[in-house]
Amino acid sequence: MFNSKISGLGYYVPENVVTNDDLSKIMDTNDAWIQERTGIKERRHVVQGDGDTTTTMGVKAAKIAIERSGIDKDDVDFIIFATLSPDYYFPGPGVLVQRDLGIKTVGALDVRNQCSGFVYALSVADQYVKTGMYKNVLVIGSELHSHGLDMTTRGRGVSVIFGDGAGAAIVCREESSDKGILSTHLHSEGEHAEELALIAPGMGKRWVTDILKDNDPEDASYLPHMNGQFVFKNAVVRFSEVIIEGLKANNLEAKDIDMLVPHQANLRISQFIQKKFGLGDDQVFNNIMNYGNTTAASIPIALTEAWEQGKIKSGDLVVLAAFGSGFTWGSVIIRW
Ligand code: UT7
Repeated sequence: MFNSKISGLGYYVPENVVTNDDLSKIMDTNDAWIQERTGIKERRHVVQGDGDTTTTMGVKAAKIAIERSGIDKDDVDFIIFATLSPDYYFPGPGVLVQRDLGIKTVGALDVRNQCSGFVYALSVADQYVKTGMYKNVLVIGSELHSHGLDMTTRGRGVSVIFGDGAGAAIVCREESSDKGILSTHLHSEGEHAEELALIAPGMGKRWVTDILKDNDPEDASYLPHMNGQFVFKNAVVRFSEVIIEGLKANNLEAKDIDMLVPHQANLRISQFIQKKFGLGDDQVFNNIMNYGNTTAASIPIALTEAWEQGKIKSGDLVVLAAFGSGFTWGSVIIRW
């Protein structure tokens, strides 16, 4: 078995900043409600027609991660792409990245798992590198939410929260034995699948020809649905459990954490976890204020920013944790 590590990170967000006040002009919401309940001040939205898609944003983030890892794009020997907002229903964006980066015909895998998508994708990359099958795996989390949100008062419970953006990492073989990804921990509980879901255009509902015939503008199954309070209650429990599970697996304790990078779902969730584990402000990284919840992109964007700001140093114990639709949740324990 080999060791694996993250050797390069990058992120990309669209230029277009959408503030809470901007949203209050198109739906019944306000800056005070959004900040108080979520911590979000602004998010980025792709401007329709400017060329950014889930794939192109992922490619931009990937180019930065590849350059920072010191490898050539042709050294990438596997691609993993996590998203809930793919450019096409099929094929998934992994193959589009292979095409757009112009790299040889390496394998490309698409991961779902929504807010936990990047943690799941990292776990897959980690296993491939540890077994020696691949040396440099490109892992991307990217989302274009804004085109699929209900930007009316009907959708305000969901649409004020989500933002667009992408993050990427190179997971490569690590020669030293005491550094790198120590372990990953994944869970699911499909019992609550519909509590945070976008039901259509799944094939389980109706024949596509019937859906097209109905052409019903009131059909909300095409829009994301979230039972916010129920998701919140589960999130705080599962976040805590999976962080403890990861620490225990490595004979570590909360006091050993140098930096916790939680999925950016809600600042109140991060603050709850911070308090529960007795961590200081400099031990938890939050950027939901600036980007909202970017689902599979949120951890790689936050991890990249934390690294760029010098908040993660060699030898640090870095913990990633996510919870979201599925429900799915997971953690990654890294000795940086
Ligand atoms: O990333 C995946 C995992 N996701 C999460 O972990 C999200 C977890 N959930 C949450 O973060 C919170 O539940 C939300 C931020 C989504 C909602 O906050 P909340 O404190 O649970 O509010 P609520 O849904 O109970 O709504 C409270 C009130 C309602 O009005 P009434 O019924 O009390 O009159 C809503 O209609 O706030 C109203 N409301 C809004 N008001 C202004 C809902 N959305 C908005 C809005 N602006 N955008």
